[in-house]
Amino acid sequence: MTIEENVSLKNLNTFGVAASARWFADITTEEHLKELFADKHLTSLPRLVLGGGSNVLFTGDFDGLVIHINIKGVQHRNEGDHIYVSAGGGEVWNDLVNYCVKHQFAGMENLSLIPGSVGASPVQNIGAYGVELMDIFHSCRAFEIASGEMITFTREQCKFSYRDSIFKSAYKGLYIITEVTFKLSRIFKPNVSYGAIQQELDKRGIRVPGIKDVSDVVSHIRVSKLPDPGMIGNAGSFFKNPIIPVAKFIQLQSNFPDIVNYPAGEGFIKLAAGWMIEQCGWKGKASGNTGTWKNQALVLVNHGNATGNEILNFSSQIIDSVRSKFDVTLEREVNII
Ligand code: EPU
Repeated sequence: MTIEENVSLKNLNTFGVAASARWFADITTEEHLKELFADKHLTSLPRLVLGGGSNVLFTGDFDGLVIHINIKGVQHRNEGDHIYVSAGGGEVWNDLVNYCVKHQFAGMENLSLIPGSVGASPVQNIGAYGVELMDIFHSCRAFEIASGEMITFTREQCKFSYRDSIFKSAYKGLYIITEVTFKLSRIFKPNVSYGAIQQELDKRGIRVPGIKDVSDVVSHIRVSKLPDPGMIGNAGSFFKNPIIPVAKFIQLQSNFPDIVNYPAGEGFIKLAAGWMIEQCGWKGKASGNTGTWKNQALVLVNHGNATGNEILNFSSQIIDSVRSKFDVTLEREVNII
């Protein structure tokens, strides 16, 4: 394992903002983590675990240790109608989806084209188009920083909920995920609960879709709505969709009859942050080097040389304006560093 000094992070964050790491460790095996944590000087510094960099916004250089999880490898084993697929934390999420689609393993196809790494996927329980990671998650292996041991977490232990897990709350900063195992199926039941999927299948004249059809359609929908981080820096949805009590929702709906909403469990309603941001007039607006995406106001973009602080300040203006119009406080989904 090599430790480098003053490493640029520009290509390691999908926002593409300029920032550097004082120290940088590229981790390609679990043993590397053990070696790294034997170095008391390095591991006493502030640290940041980085996967695909698709959910971070750097507001300056990181004066500490960046641990880049780059552990590769995919294996699968069959058990009846199920397939257990295990992937290294450093695998690119969409490469894994493609691997599963190619092998006809069902379950991941709705999560096609999400940027980021496999190891980061459980942390915020990634989700899209009617499926969340928790629906296909079986277990993960993680390095326990305090003991230097490898621990396996089951689905229940991860305490998944909307864009959340135990790794973002009680166990924040305590574990580093090195491998994730997914429970997929040989039996394919398409999930077309997200209306646009069915519409696009109909448009293509596909009546009995296969796994690849759903993956293709989801990819098509994503490309039409979301900017490609390879072309325009962004980190997907910048804010979470807020979940509010039903009583507050009823009040809001009387003022805004068209307010987009979804059930979110007993007594709660989830609102579409993108809709609210658009209603405040922000959709497609540019401000200096930053702005919101023209087809999806929930996505903040780097039009060129935006700094992290510029994007952060812009996001604060959006939060203020949504709060004054709807009395709802948006929470950032992206980690601000
Ligand atoms: N909407 C607007 N204007 C906008 C954006 C959205 O009116 O500018 C409306 C849409 O018309 C729709 C509703 O808001 O009625 C929801 O929009 P959409 O289906 O595009 O999804 P979203 O709620 O904005 C969430 C996820 C996305 C995921 C999509 C599809 C969050 C924070 N975001 O976005 O995930 O791809 O659903 O399932 O939950 C991500 O997390 O980075 C991400 C892209």
